[in-house]
Amino acid sequence: MADSSAQRAESHYFTHEPPPKDLKTNTTLARAFITRHADEGRRVVLVTSGGTTVPLEQQTVRYIDNFSAGTRGATSAEYFLQNGYAVIFLHRQFSLLPYSRHYSHNTRSFLDYMKEENGQVVVDQQHQDQMLRVLRQYTEVKRENRLLILSYVTITEYLWNLREVAQLMRPLGPKAMFYLAAAVSDFFVPQDRMVEHKIQSNEEFLQGAGASGGGNTKPPAARTEGKRLVIDLEPVPKFLKQLVDGWAPEAIIVSFKLETDPSLLVKKAEYSLKKYSHHLVIGNLLATRKWEVVFVSALDGEKWIRVPTNRRTKSFSGMPSLVGSADQLTKKDIEADDSI
Ligand code: PMT
Repeated sequence: MADSSAQRAESHYFTHEPPPKDLKTNTTLARAFITRHADEGRRVVLVTSGGTTVPLEQQTVRYIDNFSAGTRGATSAEYFLQNGYAVIFLHRQFSLLPYSRHYSHNTRSFLDYMKEENGQVVVDQQHQDQMLRVLRQYTEVKRENRLLILSYVTITEYLWNLREVAQLMRPLGPKAMFYLAAAVSDFFVPQDRMVEHKIQSNEEFLQGAGASGGGNTKPPAARTEGKRLVIDLEPVPKFLKQLVDGWAPEAIIVSFKLETDPSLLVKKAEYSLKKYSHHLVIGNLLATRKWEVVFVSALDGEKWIRVPTNRRTKSFSGMPSLVGSADQLTKKDIEADDSI
């Protein structure tokens, strides 16, 4: 059971932060997807991907964002699919998607892969092999209906979706996996401290000091004071605790740890593993995330996976499997990941 303070924090959060409009639709889709694959005896993984936003206004013009293009999540989802999993891909709207990631968010337009031949649009010869390989994988996954794509934008949308899907996956026991690659906000503006309209910078147009929450006396979390913008965020409850202890206690749980200071990475990954007692923390540094990650687990301790220096010309952001070493990476694995 989760400790009572974590439960209280969860209950407070979900009572005060309204669910996203599309939650019911997402839940219906996820339920059908999970049931079908459970009946077929398949493992189901929820891959989260992309950054969560923290809106400063209800009618949002400004927001704080967490860094993530979605490369790790989208790439990893492809590997899970190749290994027979059914994948629920919960991603930040418009971040990278499995398969299409090879042709989007690129300096090259997707039209650069095409040419005109006898009045028809065809794929240019030089891209045929690679595109055929991706297309075949994608078509097979679609035929077997093994990929469900859901999206979020804000931290609250993310957390509501995560909680609902986790609870739906709970009956799968250890056949459920959570692979939490999304970059999740640690701080946010609670609904009852959020102004409705765009925060004004011109003192002549300043709004009343109160946030829009009915009868609320607290000052808005984001407001102007004189000419300054003051932002006073509150902590997002650590949902990982609730996931491990309450929402899906038998599932395999893999979390990520992003740091910028190399001296902190392993320490913080170990701290997270100890605190939440889940299965694996994958640590990465912002600057080197494309070619090295560290796996920290109770079973294997600290294990680094590195793409050899002479193969770093193309970006690497996914893992061929959850355990392994750089030696196990084939050239194909690295070249397959050519999105960014
Ligand atoms: O998408 P790319 O551009 O390829 O980048 C990939 C990545 C760097 C974003 C990815 O590899 C990564 O590291 N993702 C996790 C980033 C992150 O949220 O790290 P964190 O240190 O803030 O959080 C660590 C863990 O705590 C998270 O897995 C999250 O599950 C958990 N957490 C976070 C916030 C919160 N309020 N509660 C939590 O439980």
